[in-house]
Amino acid sequence: MGVNVREYENLQKTSENRMKPRCYYIPTGVSEYKLLNGEWDFAYYSRDIDVPDKVEKWDKIPVPSCWQLQGYENPNYTNINYPYPVDIPYVPDNNPCGIYKRTFDIDKKWGKLYFVFEGVASCAYLYINDFYVGFTQGSHLQAEFDITDYVTEGKNTVVVKVLKWCCGSYLESQDCFRFNGIFRDVYVLQRPENHLEDVEIIPNDKSINIKTDKTCIVSIYQENTLLVSGNVDTEFSYKVEKPIYWNAEKPFLYTVELECDGEVIVLKTGLRKVEISDQYELLINGVSVKLFGVNHHDTHKYNGWCQTDEDLYQDLKLMKELNINCVRTSHYPPTPRFIQMCDEIGLYVICETDIETHGILRRYPNVEYNFDVDSTDWPGSNPEWEKEHIERMARMVECFKNHTSIIMWSTGNESGYGRNHKKMIHWTKKRDNTRLVHCEDASRKGDNRYADIHSRMYLSLEELEACIKDDTIKMPVFLCEYSHAMGNGPGDVYDYVEFFDRYPKVIGGCVWEWADHVVVKEGVQKYGGDFKGELTNDKNFCCDGMVFADRSLKAGSYEVKAAYQPMKTKFKDGKLYVYNRLNFTNLIEYELTYWIEVDGVKQNIKKVAFSVEPHAWGEIDVDYKTQDCKYGVYLNVELSKYGMVYAKAQYELPRNLVKDYVPDAINLREDKLYIYAEGKDFSYIFSKHSGMFISMIVKGEEQLAGDPKLSAFRAPTDNDIHMKALWANCNVWQGENLDCTFSKIYSCCVEKNKIIVQGSLAGVSRLPFFRYTSTVSIAEDGTVKFALYGNVRDDTIWLPRLGYEFELPKTSCEFQYYGRGPIENYLDMRHWAMVGMYQSSADEEYVNYVRPQEHGNHTNVKMLCIGNVEILSEEGMEINVSNYSTGTLFKAEHTDELERDDKIHLRIDYKVSGIGSNSCGPALAEQYRLNEKQIAFSFIVRPRR
Ligand code: GAL
Ligand code: MG
Repeated sequence: MGVNVREYENLQKTSENRMKPRCYYIPTGVSEYKLLNGEWDFAYYSRDIDVPDKVEKWDKIPVPSCWQLQGYENPNYTNINYPYPVDIPYVPDNNPCGIYKRTFDIDKKWGKLYFVFEGVASCAYLYINDFYVGFTQGSHLQAEFDITDYVTEGKNTVVVKVLKWCCGSYLESQDCFRFNGIFRDVYVLQRPENHLEDVEIIPNDKSINIKTDKTCIVSIYQENTLLVSGNVDTEFSYKVEKPIYWNAEKPFLYTVELECDGEVIVLKTGLRKVEISDQYELLINGVSVKLFGVNHHDTHKYNGWCQTDEDLYQDLKLMKELNINCVRTSHYPPTPRFIQMCDEIGLYVICETDIETHGILRRYPNVEYNFDVDSTDWPGSNPEWEKEHIERMARMVECFKNHTSIIMWSTGNESGYGRNHKKMIHWTKKRDNTRLVHCEDASRKGDNRYADIHSRMYLSLEELEACIKDDTIKMPVFLCEYSHAMGNGPGDVYDYVEFFDRYPKVIGGCVWEWADHVVVKEGVQKYGGDFKGELTNDKNFCCDGMVFADRSLKAGSYEVKAAYQPMKTKFKDGKLYVYNRLNFTNLIEYELTYWIEVDGVKQNIKKVAFSVEPHAWGEIDVDYKTQDCKYGVYLNVELSKYGMVYAKAQYELPRNLVKDYVPDAINLREDKLYIYAEGKDFSYIFSKHSGMFISMIVKGEEQLAGDPKLSAFRAPTDNDIHMKALWANCNVWQGENLDCTFSKIYSCCVEKNKIIVQGSLAGVSRLPFFRYTSTVSIAEDGTVKFALYGNVRDDTIWLPRLGYEFELPKTSCEFQYYGRGPIENYLDMRHWAMVGMYQSSADEEYVNYVRPQEHGNHTNVKMLCIGNVEILSEEGMEINVSNYSTGTLFKAEHTDELERDDKIHLRIDYKVSGIGSNSCGPALAEQYRLNEKQIAFSFIVRPRR
């Protein structure tokens, strides 16, 4: 098994004997397809130089798989940093290596035989029956080898030598776990001697144009009806008489069958055209379309980069359910079946090639970001890397050119912007001028003369607006990444999408990103830094999916769904106005349901199918009269199809609030330290020392399991990452130290049967941040009214929250509330959480964020019934019921470190700041911060009725 030493560092020879790239197909007819997935022999060496001439000892490994998840080496998650020195094109001399071996049978030798890899990282040497066949780099790109000469009839042995690193690794600095191995399908094709090589059916909206390199018989079908059939020399064009166009809402595909020498190739194609309007809109078949997108990485909680076709299909199906219409294959091409499924299920695809060189900007110490992209240290700016850049682009374009869903080609991600990018763009436009070319790096550099769209990531709304209004940008504006969905979040997606709707020039964006990347070990989701031997890692920055690693949904998923929903509504003067945001579908295909809800009880449910053309308004008269209620009356609207709700809206209606009678104040009894109140069903003790109740017995049961307190801290979310040091005691000089709050009571007295407390809150080492007066009045029936008036110190940073924390006995686990639910919600993340009457429990409120953090909040709450008490607030409060204290959530880095303390933790808050997406995006917008300096808050607690 002779190998030239370190030829894998030669960037002029990144392949040997690899076939020319061609479009993806699996031939049928006389041809055979032999999938070689399954168990292979495997031998791992931590240094490739230790591989003996004859490997004697073999383990077993499944193919496809990532060897780090099969017991060879540990996983390593790094975002920007290369996991080895930046010494281009060289990689470490001790280069780990995996040798794969298996046999396959060829019943009869005829025609030509090929070996295909769909994904192998980082490079592979292929041997058949001990003969060297060839070499390939480019982990996420298909590689095909002609093995005809090496194969014999009967049993054949294939050996693949895979190296952990090669010079191509410098181009694969994507933000994810860095895995290795044969991680996608491998197969052998046996085909007639004179088979078709490539077929081109680049989609357009006029006719089906087919180019082949051999004479063959072509048949075009519309479903099962044959439209045309004939001999093709090398070009064939068929104008469909009554064309049915393809779009993401109605992804109609024609079937093209090509027959040549008994081999049959079946391809699908759609009629669709991509253009840019003079207002810089994106036109799909002449209709302006907004891209409501998401970035998709291949990731699986046990299998890393290996997602089966079924896994991928489930991802795409879930995207459709979440109103997503666009996917960017960040930051490499997916398996061809992913694109086929996008054609079929209907998603616009931005297909990105396997290039990211982000790590270059960290080659110097003491420099966090340094896009000094003109330096030839950047492969994109270095002529020696030109061939490899063009090749990676060409391999993608040639493989996927026939796929209707692809509307843009992308040159890769975060790679600087140099001469090689320009060459890639030129090559692509020359090869396929029917699609747009995307190069975020060019826009970032401010030198986007050649690509077709101005693409940026993580702009704030202000920056986005500046781009839109910048007349020198004469192209559509697109956010290839926005709304960083890390942990609890994203909270800002709705406001971005409002912008997309408002300005024709913004064609949309892709949320970062689809799913959390984790490695599950003993039931716990692990991330960077959790594995031995990680020399550089980025902790949980890979846990930034809008769905969890197991694809279960979180509040952020629903927020994206709400932001992307197919209808917009208005309600005015008894009329509901419904806007159809879809581009090709009449709303008659959906069912619209609306009803009135009085204190959470549904009335008058109406289901209608009504016709609203795309981009048009329809209206409905809503019949209602002012009604009495205790909490609220709402009009609720839902749009659904086959039982799945795709859009929601809710409007508060005029109502007549029926107030409860509150009896006179009870006579309070006091001694030196305590104040006592007693009546039928209740007995309370208030501490003058702490300014709080220390006992509330209601209906014979103690309701408190600890001393209540006022507080302002929350366990920082991932999106609070930059606030953490300003809120918590992380640094001797920096924060407000809200996690170490001292409560000071200056005075507590009873005046006219009212308890009046003067107090303050202060973080350790700091001035008090909040000074307040609180009054507590208790009525004869046990109703306690809390009223808090206070001032936040002028120079205090905006607060995570402010309110009361109570500890309740475990028995108070279940509760009922009237407010926004049932999913957790925050000021800026509540468009899918409607006001209603809900039942829940501390267990159900728990949200399994990979790194434990703040969760489980409910806004707009008017009533909470928990234990033996009811808590009511006319102006609304925010509530949170949890099995965990803030301190516990704050401390834990993984879910298995969360310890319960046998209490229920209840928060009754004046306000909780919103969520945003500041883990990578802009700071939380002002309007969602608890920024006000004067606080007035009241609520009542009373025995449950
Ligand atoms: C972007 C990058 C993504 C990902 C994200 C942060 O800059 O393109 O790959 O790293 O930031 O999660
Ligand atoms: Mg990056």
